[in-house]
Amino acid sequence: MIRTVYWEDGQIALIDQTLLPYEYVTLRLRDYHQAAHAIRTMQVRGAPAIGVTAGLAMALAAGAVDATAARPVFDQEMKIAGRELASTRPTAVNLFWAIEQILSILRSHADWTTKQCQAAVLTRALNMVDEDIAANRALGFHGASLVPDDATILTHCNAGALACAGFGTALGVVRAAVELGKNVRVISDETRPRLQGAQLTCWELQQDGIPVTLISDNVAGSLMRRGNIDLVVVGADRIAANGDTANKIGTYSVAVLARENDVPFYVAAPTSTVDLSLPDGDGIPIEERDPGEVTRIGDHPIGPAGVKALNLAFDVTPARYVQAIITERGIARPPYLESLRRLVNPDEPGAGR
Ligand code: MRU
Repeated sequence: MIRTVYWEDGQIALIDQTLLPYEYVTLRLRDYHQAAHAIRTMQVRGAPAIGVTAGLAMALAAGAVDATAARPVFDQEMKIAGRELASTRPTAVNLFWAIEQILSILRSHADWTTKQCQAAVLTRALNMVDEDIAANRALGFHGASLVPDDATILTHCNAGALACAGFGTALGVVRAAVELGKNVRVISDETRPRLQGAQLTCWELQQDGIPVTLISDNVAGSLMRRGNIDLVVVGADRIAANGDTANKIGTYSVAVLARENDVPFYVAAPTSTVDLSLPDGDGIPIEERDPGEVTRIGDHPIGPAGVKALNLAFDVTPARYVQAIITERGIARPPYLESLRRLVNPDEPGAGR
């Protein structure tokens, strides 16, 4: 299994995704500033992978403080680290979820020494890695029940092992279907401008010997109209309480095309991607990146010098286009306001209804 982000010898090890599929390089990060840089520059990307990296970066921050330091000093350092990591990318809620998971341990244990906190932070961060892989396997097998025995699945961007600690969300559904003996093929949108579909999804499926065909983004509609796509499965960066889903730019167009052509459109994501604090997708912050990512492919310019470009990195697909949201705790169906809340807060009074 591809391990995208893990802890080794007191450092974060991660695959540099800006070099794939041409070079496979594992980076070692020694401090949280390096981790923030890796997230910002997309050496590590994908909502769950960003979250896990932030969790481990908080462990690096904790370990850098003198174990005999007073708690207020330690807590202050951790807040500073949290702020720097949170400033890297705005859309994927897993980043903020992971930082909050760590900071909440410190808030609930004001009586602990710095040394005790350091141990607890590291344990929580390491658990995030294992929990992410376990969640993806669980959601993958839930999702596989939606995949016919002989299916062509369209996906957008990379919601695979490379976007998580391992196994993947949308591609976790594909992997689980394959493990169950189903005959599946993947159509991968190239995903302009960063080409995660072409460079990452195609690479990781090739590693596993799962058949994959690369298309440019504008081909998806034609394939659906010809009846060549059985279902669409994508990942998510943030899902609002009503099921509106932020994912890589272009996902919304795919969802509308899927509806027009009666192709089921599914979102696969762990519950850590659900943000119940937002009633709908209008409140999801959408990252705007360097226009140079649009005016060039790699180092190659594709427009006239000086042309203006707009680079929205994500879009929001309204919940009405989403047939189901596949999580590690089961499959949510519309109306999502109730079904998502039940999955995210199973212990809430009335949740079992
Ligand atoms: O800009 P990226 O590559 O971080 O965007 C990634 C996506 O949009 C993924 O589809 C999403 O994070 C889900 S990953 C399991």
